[in-house]
Amino acid sequence: MEVAVLGLGYVGAVAAAALAITGKKVIGIDVDYHKVTAFQAGRVPFYEPGLAELVEQAKRAGNLFFATPKEIEALDAQVAFICVGTPSQPNGAADLSQVRAAVQWVRDKFRDPGVLVMKSTVPPGTGRRLVAQYLSGGDKRISYVSNPEFLREGQAVHDWFYPDRIVIGGEDPKGIEMARSLFTGIEAPVVITDITSAELIKYAANAFLATKISFINEIANLCEKLGADIADVARAIGLDPRIGPSFLQAGIGYGGSCFPKDVRALDFLATANGHSFELLRAVINVNNRQRLLPVQKLKERLGDLAGKRIAVLGLAFKPGTDDVREAPAIDIVRLLLDEGAEVRVCDPLALENARSVLPAQVTLAPSVLAAIAGSNAVVVATEWPEFIHFDWEEASRCMQPPRLVVDGRNCLDVAAIAGCSLEYIGIGRRVRVMKELTR
Ligand code: UGA
Repeated sequence: MEVAVLGLGYVGAVAAAALAITGKKVIGIDVDYHKVTAFQAGRVPFYEPGLAELVEQAKRAGNLFFATPKEIEALDAQVAFICVGTPSQPNGAADLSQVRAAVQWVRDKFRDPGVLVMKSTVPPGTGRRLVAQYLSGGDKRISYVSNPEFLREGQAVHDWFYPDRIVIGGEDPKGIEMARSLFTGIEAPVVITDITSAELIKYAANAFLATKISFINEIANLCEKLGADIADVARAIGLDPRIGPSFLQAGIGYGGSCFPKDVRALDFLATANGHSFELLRAVINVNNRQRLLPVQKLKERLGDLAGKRIAVLGLAFKPGTDDVREAPAIDIVRLLLDEGAEVRVCDPLALENARSVLPAQVTLAPSVLAAIAGSNAVVVATEWPEFIHFDWEEASRCMQPPRLVVDGRNCLDVAAIAGCSLEYIGIGRRVRVMKELTR
């Protein structure tokens, strides 16, 4: 079987390489010439663990090729995966221009009747509209299938081969069967549904996870008022299997290229359909507020931040990626600069990406120690293992009073930090821990 994959971001590139190593002939297509030439040369032009090896394996098997759309006259493929971006518009709605262009292009280039598999996250209702606008009528019969992806950045290769579920939405049994056959050998429950439900499943999943995060963040904020400890509260409620332990890590909130945009798009879609989704509004508001907390906490403790030296550890929206899109850290740095603070930042992977979005007066430090040296306070904005296991004794020696550590991800050992003569401030955590009592 031959497959064309349009859009070589982390979803498209993983899909292309994974399908190729399972025996399909795959052509990866992207409008970005530099991306295509990088893949052709065997280089992955962004950070995604395991992807370079997968691409190499697929190329060695002679199954994976790359091209720009201009280089392709006609597509011999039976299946085309659409994996292009659906960024936010200023009003929160998803921008579908790349999706529309890709669908039209596939329609025009398919040599034979084929299956168009939509992996891009598109608002519910989009698939039906695309079919009506571009795929019905004409002489080619093209089946449209919605197959939302649930890959996490940084773990996308693993998630492809070990998904929790495979969702296939379609109206045409042949198209559904063809899409299903692409996942032969992957063990996971398969949910077959209509196109609109498949599209909604993706938004509902991301919105639910975002809701869990904002919920636990509100409980953390309440912990601060009540003198309770969020780490204990989250652990105990997560032991209830109906709640589950994941996505209960309180802190400065969610970021990245997915949750913020998808939650906003769902809110927009609900409003456009005459439904005011109050819960989602609250999720967004809580998340926007959470990332302000480190600066508020620093001001409460240090007063005027003008001239204060602050180190921000972590710029990526989560560990294991170099992605800084909608990362809380970037907003925190900007806010600190607005307050007149002198800011140094470091990140094991995201420094280069952050360089283009951060104001020039920020110092990009090559190491944790270089960022921390001489600072009055440190803000941990991403829970990288390098920060969790850092020698905080050494940090204490090279910092200036009052030696504050604002743990925006609640990832540090409170007792160990306090034991190093550093002042610990978390999000909803009690500083005086009573671990021995709970043992
Ligand atoms: C997310 C979903 O988890 C994937 O299933 C989905 O396919 C993807 O979006 C997408 O729509 O493409 P990702 O954006 O890679 O994946 O990131 P997550 O690992 O889900 O984390 C999102 C954000 O939530 C991060 O900023 C993380 O720090 C934050 N988070 C996560 C918390 O603040 N607390 C938690 O307990 C968990």
